[in-house]
Amino acid sequence: MNEDEKQKELEEIAGQVNECQRCPLYRGANRAVPGEGSPDAKIMFIGEGPGYWEDQRGIPFCGAAGALLDKLLQSIKVERKSVFIGNVVKHRPPGNRDPLPEEIAACSEWLDRQIGIIQPKIIVTLGRFSMAKFIPEGKISQIHGQPRFIEFEGEKYIVIPMFHPAAALRSLEIMGKIKEDFSKIPELLKENKDQDIMRAQERPESPKEEQLSLLQ
Ligand code: URA
Repeated sequence: MNEDEKQKELEEIAGQVNECQRCPLYRGANRAVPGEGSPDAKIMFIGEGPGYWEDQRGIPFCGAAGALLDKLLQSIKVERKSVFIGNVVKHRPPGNRDPLPEEIAACSEWLDRQIGIIQPKIIVTLGRFSMAKFIPEGKISQIHGQPRFIEFEGEKYIVIPMFHPAAALRSLEIMGKIKEDFSKIPELLKENKDQDIMRAQERPESPKEEQLSLLQ
């Protein structure tokens, strides 16, 4: 698919998301937040679900957590318009509560299709709900910042779990960790890092420090 065809398909999905009534979340929401960004993105960021401002504007990560995401992107010299930003649920959960498993399941087709169209090299999961989509057994405090290859719907992606930016806004310790984890992204875009990640992954007993050292 060329960029125009990808763009057209993404727009079609956005149209369907805007009409979606597959779970009750749409009832309490002002509008859907389908996700946005480049159809040719090398990096895809996946958050949890729209918050207050996203629900007002229909744009992902446009509130306080989004301002931090923008700063983190600037810190690695990546333009926001060059990546794709989405969420596991496309309508705001009331009062920003956690999305329920049935809401995530009902919404998954949209995100799965977006991933399949864009086929990014790297998927950055922001928070535990998007991490759980690819690494259900993962504990974010233990595996954040550790890239791994994940096969998803027949394609391989580098998935790197990170804390949610909103968590970083509440804790200086997490802020330090998310900054450090972000700083690894440029290296991961380089072709020659693929072998390193694969080798680290093939050693199941490899401690966290060993995996991290490959990226330092
Ligand atoms: N938090 C998320 O998980 N997603 C957004 O779009 C905004 C805040």
